Amino acid sequence: MEDKKVIKIGLMGVGTVGTGVIKVLLKNQEVIAHRIGADLEIKRVLDKDIERVSAKIKELGLNESILTSDVNELIGDPEIDIIVEVIGGIHPALEYIIKALEKGKSVVTANKDLIAAHGKELFEAASHHQTDLFFEASVAGGIPIIQSMKESLAGNQIKQIMGIVNGTTNFILTKMTKEKKSFQEVLEQAQKLGYAEADPTSDVGGFDAARKVAILASIAFNSRVTDASVYVEGITNISALDIAYAQELGYTIKLLGIAKLENEEIEVRVHPAMIPSTHPLSAVNDSFNAVFVEGDAVGKTMFYGRGAGELPTASAIVGDIISAARNIRFSARGRLGCTCFEHKRIKPIGEIRTKYYLRMVVKDQPGVLASIAAVLGNQNVSIASVIQKRISEENHAEIVLITHAVEEHSLKDAIAIISGLSSVERVENVIRVEETD
Ligand code: HSE
Repeated sequence: MEDKKVIKIGLMGVGTVGTGVIKVLLKNQEVIAHRIGADLEIKRVLDKDIERVSAKIKELGLNESILTSDVNELIGDPEIDIIVEVIGGIHPALEYIIKALEKGKSVVTANKDLIAAHGKELFEAASHHQTDLFFEASVAGGIPIIQSMKESLAGNQIKQIMGIVNGTTNFILTKMTKEKKSFQEVLEQAQKLGYAEADPTSDVGGFDAARKVAILASIAFNSRVTDASVYVEGITNISALDIAYAQELGYTIKLLGIAKLENEEIEVRVHPAMIPSTHPLSAVNDSFNAVFVEGDAVGKTMFYGRGAGELPTASAIVGDIISAARNIRFSARGRLGCTCFEHKRIKPIGEIRTKYYLRMVVKDQPGVLASIAAVLGNQNVSIASVIQKRISEENHAEIVLITHAVEEHSLKDAIAIISGLSSVERVENVIRVEETD
């Protein structure tokens, strides 16, 4: 055991999350010191704009002399044991973290972009220098999912993960459902409330969720999954009408991150999905996140909480700092290394098998339903339920179908043929239906 009385931290970034980290470390410092068996000290804080943050640092109760805009004062300081990176983005965070690992420092990061895209080189550097790289806050903010999967669930073979890992889109879909409003209307409301960014693409396009699911899938299946190999669809095509039909059929629409293992192959995707309204994920509303994990021993578990925000994210980071500090005290850095020791194939989206919801506008005339059913039948797509309704468009009707499970390429082929039928005006939407037993 290393008899360190004080473990020193270099904090990179004093935005919302960095501020939260300082607050939690100071507020709970006594109990944290007992839990580690050593004191934690924030020795240096890095920020590009010292003037902007110096008042904030003082207000938080730290001495402004610890502020620097020179990264070498953190990485090059042999007294600093742990680097906490909360500046975000790929560059220069990647270079800073690699350098810190090369110096043998433990690193704690909240940076999902970086872990999802550059996990391999980061973990190789950590392993090579026998040190720690923790990243609990990179997925679902305050929800303790990474360490749970790496440690508490390590005795399981994980079968599947389904997560609501983006608070912005969950807020939008919840509002659309409750207030029966359009996507655009609710997006504007969310932007005014600060729940959605001025450029909402990363959230509403599903890309933020894809990075988180890539990280979860890599841990779950011991095989590197980068965000580039996640199939992604966002929520911009979901209408209030789809949500109403879903409810009528007993489903809720959520943006899901899905990772499954079937026959030793990985399925990994982010898209809007209908889930039975009785599924625990359908009760996860507003900006909350939840991750549903199924293991062969534990069965089904669900982790629920705040996926973003100053203090919830800081909770995850400080937990990681404590783990890193304990490893330092017990000379056990690098104990929990990279878990990707396999190379499993990732299935292309055409090979996934699921149920589908189809909504189409057709001419209201004899034989239309039969012709659609014939196309589906020819492609081996079996129909589970059908609703037909009159709509305001003269002599037209709306048909909503739920299929039985089918491979996506067959469904896509069927839709291409259906779209070309003279009696079919347009296929309005196709949404995957996730029905796990
Ligand atoms: N933009 C994310 C969300 C939070 O809406 O959940 C940060 O990952």
